[in-house]
Amino acid sequence: GLPARVRIHEVGPRDGLQNEKALVPAAIKAEFIHRLAEAGLTTIEATSFVHPKWVPQLADAEELMRLIDDVDARLPVLVPNERGLDRALALGAREIAVFASATESFAKANLNRTVDGALEMFEPVVAKAKDAGVAVRGYLSMCFGDPWEGPVPISQTVSVSRRLLDMGCDEISLGDTIGVATPGHVRELLATLNEAGIADDRLAVHFHDTYGQALANTLTALQHGVTTVDASAGGLGGCPYAKSATGNLATEDLVWMLDGLGIETGVDIGRLTAASVWMARHLGRPSPSRTVRALSQK
Ligand code: HMG
Ligand code: MG
Repeated sequence: GLPARVRIHEVGPRDGLQNEKALVPAAIKAEFIHRLAEAGLTTIEATSFVHPKWVPQLADAEELMRLIDDVDARLPVLVPNERGLDRALALGAREIAVFASATESFAKANLNRTVDGALEMFEPVVAKAKDAGVAVRGYLSMCFGDPWEGPVPISQTVSVSRRLLDMGCDEISLGDTIGVATPGHVRELLATLNEAGIADDRLAVHFHDTYGQALANTLTALQHGVTTVDASAGGLGGCPYAKSATGNLATEDLVWMLDGLGIETGVDIGRLTAASVWMARHLGRPSPSRTVRALSQK
């Protein structure tokens, strides 16, 4: 069966923009987030409190947070360590995400840590956030394949998921960082997570569309019982520390499919498309989303 309602976790302003070489002014980012909220998105990942040298595009996190404090949506932010958490809490963040890796290669490239070292770095962050009443999402990258290590064993993904939940994460977002997942792999991973006692209601899926499988993978996850789906307006994205990562599943492609299935999201696809076209114009290149192109040519 399929769910009656899906919660879209919009990642465009963070996962989408983090990869853009040319710096986007904070005022433009803020307007993008306002437009996304007006289109009906209720969870919009706004930025990251990471080292500015690692992700220069998001070095304006403080300024941006002040420009969006009137937005009527959940505004989670990425936080890798206590330094990041303190910065986020000082700006009134009510939701954070830590970001682990299922593979050693990506833990090193993205966090300069081993898998275990990264989890140790997150532990006090999650504890302190929970004490402050802040919700915590745990991202898990490279759940399916890794550009250096190839296919990732399901047992590896399950064991790091378990550890993120055990340290107090409310939800795990299963990241197909480089977009190599296919529906059979998705089904097998979700079934194995369930067998390990991790229910679908603690899980979100985060697909990148490198091989054009993101929508098929998403539908497979929905049929399995997952109801939280990450997507990026206009299909913006990639990851600066994963070669061969392309954009996320485009939010418009997702909403087009869900609208057709009669699954509620609260999102107005016309307003959403207009927001992405506006952003694409600012970035100087058209959105890669087929739905955005089809709807904006009408
Ligand atoms: P490190 O170099 O090991 O840092 O990086 P460190 O702990 O040794 O500290 C070095 C310096 O950085 C110190 O300053 C710290 O104060 C400073 P110094 O004393 O040298 O002047 N520092 C900070 N400054 C500001 N904010 C902070 C912070 N932390 C330390 N939070 C670190 C370790 C984790 C900091 C670094 O690796 C980092 O920032 N990584 C972030 C990478 C990133 O953001 N990647 C993209 C997001 S993940 C993703 O996109 C995947 C996802 O979408 C899911 C999917 O698709 O799979 C989520
Ligand atoms: Mg991503």
